[in-house]
Amino acid sequence: MTAAGLPTRRPSSPAQLRRVFGAFPTGVTAVAALADGVPVGLAASSFTSVSLHPPLVSVSIAHTSTTWPLLAGRARLGVTVLGADQERACAQLASQDGDRFAGLDWHATDGGAVLLRGACAWFDTSVEQQVTAGDHDIVILRIHALGAEHAVPPLVFHTGRYRRLAETTTSPNAPTTQHLTTSEETP
Ligand SMILES: Cc1cc2nc3c(=O)[nH]c(=O)nc-3n(C[C@H](O)[C@H](O)[C@H](O)COP(=O)(O)O)c2cc1C
Repeated sequence: MTAAGLPTRRPSSPAQLRRVFGAFPTGVTAVAALADGVPVGLAASSFTSVSLHPPLVSVSIAHTSTTWPLLAGRARLGVTVLGADQERACAQLASQDGDRFAGLDWHATDGGAVLLRGACAWFDTSVEQQVTAGDHDIVILRIHALGAEHAVPPLVFHTGRYRRLAETTTSPNAPTTQHLTTSEETP
C-alpha cells in the first residue's frame, strides 16, 4: 500500500506500532505518589499537555500496569519531567525488579504526590477523568501546583533509545538556557 508515494502498511502487531510510534520523540515523566507511606510510581513517555484553562495534562496507562491500580485512588499524583541525567532513574522506574525509588532523590508533598529533584519540571496533580482508549486508559490530570527548571536539559526517548538534545541555538538572540521556577496553587 502507498500513500502519496510513501510505503505504508496496515497496523499488524504491537511491535510494529511501537517501532513507528517511536519516530515521535518524547520526554519521559515519573508518575508517582505515596501509597501507605511508600513511594510507588512508573515511567511514562505518554505525557501530554492538554488544557490551559482549566490546567490539565494527561498520561496514557496500559491496562496491564500493576502499579496504576495503586496510584489511581491517590488524592494527589506527582508528575516529574525527567532530566537528561536521570536515564538510570527512568529505567529503574520502569523495571520489574527491585525498589524503583532506591537511591532516587524524591520528596512527597503534603498531599502525597511524589516528585523527583534534579528534574526539568514537576506537577502536583489529581485525577480529573479517566477515558478508556483501546488497551490503555487516557488519564487526565488537573494541575494544582507546578514548577520548572529550564536550565536542566530533558531526557528524550526516541526510536526506543534515550537521547539528549544537542545544545544549539536557532536564532542569534535565543538564549541557550532559560531559568524558570514557578509554583502556583490553584484554588
Ligand atoms: C521510556 C519509557 C516510557 C514508558 N511510558 C509508559 C507509558 O506512557 N504508559 C505506560 O503505561 N507505561 C509506560 N512505560 C512502562 C512503565 O514504566 C512500566 O514499566 C509498566 O507500567 C510496567 O510496570 P507496572 O506493572 O509496575 O505498572 C514506559 C517505560 C519506559 C522505559
